[in-house]
Amino acid sequence: MFSLILLSVSSGVAGAAVDKRIPVPAGYVAPSYYPTPHGGWTPDWSESYHKASLLVSNMTLAEKTNITAGSGLFMGRCVGNTGSALRVGIPQLCLQDGPLGLRNSDHITAFPAGITVGATWDKDLMFRRGVAMGEEFRGKGVNIHLGPSVGPLGRKPRGGRNWEGFGSDPVLQAFGGALSIEGIQSVGVIATMKHLIANEQEQYRMYSLAQPGMSSNVDDRTLHELYLWPFAEGVRSGVGAVMMAYNAINGSACSQNSYLINGILKDELGFQGFVMSDWLAQLSGVASALSGLDMSMPGDVYIIPLLGNTYWMSEYSRSILNGSIPVDRLDDSVTRILAAYFQMGQDRNYPRPNFDTNTQDAEGPLYPGALISPRGIVNEFVNVQANHAEVAREVARDAITLLKNINGSLPLSRNSTLKIFGTDAEKNPDGINSCADQGCNKGTLGMGWGSGSARYPYLDSPIDGLKSRSANFRFFNTDSLPSNSNPAPGDTAIVFVSADSGENYITVENNPGDRTSANLNLWHNGDKLVQDVAAAYSNVIVVVHTVGPVLLEAWHDLPSVNAVLFAHLPGQEAGDSLMQILYGDVSPSGHLPYTIPTSESNYPSSVSLVSFQVGQPQDTFTEGLYIDYRHFHAANITPRYAFGHGLSYTTFAFSNATITPVTPLTATPPPRPAKGSTPTYYTTIPPASEAYWPANFPRIWRYLYPWLEKPDADRAAAAVNSSTKYPYPPGYSTTQTAGPASGGAQGGNPALFNTAYRLTVTVTNTGTAPGKAVAQLYVQFPAGIPVDTPTIQLRDFAKSATLAAGESAALELRLTRKDLSVWDVAAQNWVVPDVQGDYGVWVGGSSDALRVRCGTVGAACEERGEGPV
Ligand SMILES: *[C@@H]1O[C@H](CO)[C@@H](O)[C@H](O)[C@H]1NC(C)=O
Ligand SMILES: *[C@@H]1O[C@H](CO)[C@@H](O)[C@H](O)[C@H]1NC(C)=O
Ligand SMILES: *[C@@H]1O[C@H](CO)[C@@H](O)[C@H](O)[C@H]1NC(C)=O
Ligand SMILES: *[C@@H]1O[C@H](CO)[C@@H](O)[C@H](O)[C@H]1NC(C)=O
Ligand SMILES: *[C@@H]1O[C@H](CO)[C@@H](O)[C@H](O)[C@H]1NC(C)=O
Ligand SMILES: *[C@@H]1O[C@H](CO)[C@@H](O)[C@H](O)[C@H]1NC(C)=O
Ligand SMILES: *[C@@H]1O[C@H](CO)[C@@H](O)[C@H](O)[C@H]1NC(C)=O
Ligand SMILES: *[C@@H]1O[C@H](CO)[C@@H](O)[C@H](O)[C@H]1NC(C)=O
Repeated sequence: MFSLILLSVSSGVAGAAVDKRIPVPAGYVAPSYYPTPHGGWTPDWSESYHKASLLVSNMTLAEKTNITAGSGLFMGRCVGNTGSALRVGIPQLCLQDGPLGLRNSDHITAFPAGITVGATWDKDLMFRRGVAMGEEFRGKGVNIHLGPSVGPLGRKPRGGRNWEGFGSDPVLQAFGGALSIEGIQSVGVIATMKHLIANEQEQYRMYSLAQPGMSSNVDDRTLHELYLWPFAEGVRSGVGAVMMAYNAINGSACSQNSYLINGILKDELGFQGFVMSDWLAQLSGVASALSGLDMSMPGDVYIIPLLGNTYWMSEYSRSILNGSIPVDRLDDSVTRILAAYFQMGQDRNYPRPNFDTNTQDAEGPLYPGALISPRGIVNEFVNVQANHAEVAREVARDAITLLKNINGSLPLSRNSTLKIFGTDAEKNPDGINSCADQGCNKGTLGMGWGSGSARYPYLDSPIDGLKSRSANFRFFNTDSLPSNSNPAPGDTAIVFVSADSGENYITVENNPGDRTSANLNLWHNGDKLVQDVAAAYSNVIVVVHTVGPVLLEAWHDLPSVNAVLFAHLPGQEAGDSLMQILYGDVSPSGHLPYTIPTSESNYPSSVSLVSFQVGQPQDTFTEGLYIDYRHFHAANITPRYAFGHGLSYTTFAFSNATITPVTPLTATPPPRPAKGSTPTYYTTIPPASEAYWPANFPRIWRYLYPWLEKPDADRAAAAVNSSTKYPYPPGYSTTQTAGPASGGAQGGNPALFNTAYRLTVTVTNTGTAPGKAVAQLYVQFPAGIPVDTPTIQLRDFAKSATLAAGESAALELRLTRKDLSVWDVAAQNWVVPDVQGDYGVWVGGSSDALRVRCGTVGAACEERGEGPV
């Protein structure tokens, strides 16, 4: 989502054109799926649905439509504010960005970004960061947190928002997302998993008068095995909200794609919460409701917001009165929203918003989007930081990924004489929050830019870290080698370099979100800076703050470049977290959440950025399953650093692995459980009077309301019997169905998540320093199966506690039925392609360092001289 929109539209409200599907490459279809499955059919939500449906049965039409949409852009304290139904005790709900912390506010924590969290490979930290973040959103009175982001998946290395998610693998992304959701929701905040789906590029993502949003054309198997996987896990964790992506899938906009929302999300994945549009991504009124959208954000029409025009609110009331949207569709949406509210316990002492996303001032307009607004206290400066800096620092530290370390150049010793180069080592001299939504790359890069950013409460920079250690250093705050650095033989030079990206509504140094100009290179001539320092100094350490893969080839192998670390995007805790690693208080334990290539040509051309096209930009996912390491293996390309790579100051050995069958496999999963009962909704159209404006209501001009003038409401009601009927889409139906075979519970058929095999492996610290090990488990499908599968695929991982030199620990890993299945497009189910086949289950510290192989046949493990790749 975004904030300040720069509209370059001329005039008029078109829109009919976008309702039609624009031609996409042959074979990509956007099927119909109706009706929206009523929510409430899984046992884990039945109590909340019971409470919600009691309430809904007592709500008027205007109260119901009020809950399903925002009051308009800039029409309240939060980035999204629904209408209220105060008569039945429901306040306006506050929706607020973003995935790394509370955007546009004060006294919060700017946590490390998702990509940094992914690099920790630490499930416990993923959860604990979620809890801390949830506490901050709750403390500021946010009902609905707009995170985590589990899409984009990083298919395109230059994609602008990959850093908001957890890495370029569906399983790493899934654990990051699901554990964040569990943490956030554990304190009563509704999490929003986004963006469904395949929003892999920033440019051309949005529909506008000028052009439809980009179409991601994805085949069914790829959708299920890659892009949908993290969403399935998030639903399984009970996520309360899902946000639809801006783009289209197979030519049909995600926000009104009935197959995606009604079919895949609500029926197959059994999602029980509510579905919202991304900001100004709603394109239609009746059609989006029928397709399963439950909440319109921020409520305005997408073409020209801020004029008080909406597809829902009053228009939703009209669509109910004129019979175009069935009453049970509205009731289901409202029940879904209120069920999520009850599911998180928000009916009990939940705080009201005490901040304002639109200003830093204490007082201001209550509705900045209105022409004339009442003023009042808008920011109460509530401090919600508690001790969250500690978990933020822990994440930042344990994400730091040591890629190279020769000649024992790291850790530093206390008396090392340091020469520090690069503007990335110190805070932006213009101020740490001088660029709105962090829309610049100046100073230490702690996060990317856009709606996924936060204001720093402070920024502990690497230079601050050196100062607080009383390090012996000189800092040259420049991105070119100065002539006065006076290299001395004992010097250690540390070079700080960065690569940034962000959301499309801001362009930074000619990069409109995606890295269109920077490509995969370091910014600010970073390559030259490292080369020049490496020519002048004999011991050089390179620290990289980056949103994703960057090319290191220009200097990586220079003889004096002894160490390279990725510190990813550490948020506010950039300094001490890095010092703890550089000085060896703790050993680095981060691992790469993506592959680092040797050249951009390593990637398939289909993952390049799509440039301008007349009409709807088409982005066809022809590489299928083969993104990131899956592609490198298939194409037999050795990257600079493999997915999962990460060094320590010690070494680890994996041994004594065991594999134990738990639930026996069959080719297809056992039949799904039938849907449980859902609330019964009336289909009788309410009286028009339920939508009449109340007398003497103090209207705020441009604010979005659910009411109609009496003659309008009466006319709509009279239209019910007119011969003009709403042009329902092909395949439209109002009969609830049993749901697909692959469904049955939150996340899908519950049997998919049965543990098929349990594994244990002993990890031993074989070096001299204490450290934490990561065990990564990859599955290799049996040879000779009739379906093509990537050579190896990550399925689980575990991180040890700190192990002293010589100490061992047993780590537990598991494989589910789903982990051993492929999505069978014909059967529309997860199928084990060879039940008797010998799956290779590989365990090790990196995708290119797998030396323990367990086989499912014979259930035995052995150590191998060579890995699978
Ligand atoms: C996109 O088209 C492919 C190929 O026809 C189809 O298998 C898939 O289900 C479609 N996906 C969606 C979300 O419509
Ligand atoms: C509906 O609301 C009225 C008060 O407005 C209350 O008396 C009644 O008990 C409510 N009914 C239900 C089913 O909640
Ligand atoms: C709808 O919500 C607004 C606040 O956004 C509130 O003023 C109004 O009273 C609500 N309408 C109904 C019918 O409750
Ligand atoms: C009912 O109202 C909605 C919202 O204005 C409109 O889109 C729809 O076409 C109307 N239906 C009929 C049959 O006029
Ligand atoms: C690093 O070690 C290699 C041999 O392992 C040696 O050739 C090189 O000179 C050493 N570099 C430094 C800076 O000590
Ligand atoms: C730093 O101290 C260590 C002992 O702790 C010593 O071996 C080394 O020579 C010292 N280095 C410098 C540059 O003074
Ligand atoms: C091997 O693993 C098993 C199961 O975790 C454990 O009980 C045993 O102690 C381990 N043996 C060694 C030598 O580590
Ligand atoms: C529409 O027609 C039905 C059936 O003839 C009738 O019961 C109902 O009162 C009519 N509604 C309106 C608003 O005319």
